[in-house]
Amino acid sequence: MIVCSCNVLSDGQVRACLNPGPGCPRTPAQVYACLGCSPKCGRCARTIRGILDRALADTHAACTTTCGAACTLKELEEAAA
Ligand code: FES
Repeated sequence: MIVCSCNVLSDGQVRACLNPGPGCPRTPAQVYACLGCSPKCGRCARTIRGILDRALADTHAACTTTCGAACTLKELEEAAA
């Protein structure tokens, strides 16, 4: 499904750039940059934020690492619930 009509981005393309790790996009602006484009009208930012939050929450739910510091992914998991 197309989620950004200005840049013709699909939800699958957005999810494909969300690889776990330090370089993983954390904001819609970083998702646009990852996909080689930039926001135009901005109507899709909220949808992209939702995809991002759900993907990061799923990543956190599957994480078995016990972190010493507060995990920012836990906040996203709770927000997506
Ligand atoms: S719909 Fe994505 S920038 Fe316009």
